[in-house]
Amino acid sequence: MKGRDTWNLGQYEKFRNERSQPFFDLLKLVDLPKGGRAIDLGCGPGAMTLLLHSQGAFAETVGIDNSENMLAKVPSAPGLSFRNADILEFEGDEEWDLITSNAALQWVPDHGSLFRKMHRALKSGGQIVHQIPNNGSHPSQSVAYELESDPRFSHYAPNKIDSNVLSPEGYAEFLDTLGLEDINVFLKVYMHHLEDRTAVIEWVRGTFLTHYEREMNAEDFAEFMAAYSSRLLSILPDQKPFLFTFRRLFISARKP
Ligand SMILES: C[S@@+](CC[C@H](N)C(=O)[O-])C[C@H]1O[C@@H](n2cnc3c(N)ncnc32)[C@H](O)[C@@H]1O
Repeated sequence: MKGRDTWNLGQYEKFRNERSQPFFDLLKLVDLPKGGRAIDLGCGPGAMTLLLHSQGAFAETVGIDNSENMLAKVPSAPGLSFRNADILEFEGDEEWDLITSNAALQWVPDHGSLFRKMHRALKSGGQIVHQIPNNGSHPSQSVAYELESDPRFSHYAPNKIDSNVLSPEGYAEFLDTLGLEDINVFLKVYMHHLEDRTAVIEWVRGTFLTHYEREMNAEDFAEFMAAYSSRLLSILPDQKPFLFTFRRLFISARKP
């Protein structure tokens, strides 16, 4: 991976139950005969990849991720394998029955060329099925975006995870242009009842904020976190439990 690996398995797994809910919704969109080949882009710790492999009854499932930290404890099962690789390097020629990803594509630029490659790499009858977080307007993200223009931090590269993502209509139109069928694009808002509002910081610390930690030196990141936490806590209501709403985009389509 480019830069330091700031993914932290322990931090990420703190909200494992909440994070697995969208994965089960993603799984419902998979509609393929048994025994095919699946690839999970940005598979992370691999627990969801194993579920995909067993519940989809695939003969072979490959998980790829560019974080050694996240791949440190991947599970093992017959037909299941993992590779330390970048989604940007993903290529293929009619190799896969399923190309999927759960909460990873937002980290990758140029979805036009990425989806073109996926289309090429899909067998006839195969599916692409993706879940992409799309929560940029929530204060947990918008506060960080505001801080990007603070003179203390403005020389660091901005976080692109929302600007990388197209609109729902954008995906629908693009997949149609590619000639895909059974196109299904929808947004779902998840309701996570967390212990209190500070849990939101813990949550994004394991995902969205890894960008700032990777970009900044330790001193600046500590300052960024202090400013971020105090601004965010001044906005979020002090309620217990705290309702963390999380908007996610689902995309599925089939190659004729
Ligand atoms: C939020 S986690 C999701 C992990 C897993 N799919 C899950 O559902 O638990 C995002 C994952 O995407 C991976 N990732 C981000 N950018 C990537 C890239 N360019 N190539 C490969 N993996 C990437 C990260 O390392 C991380 O493991």
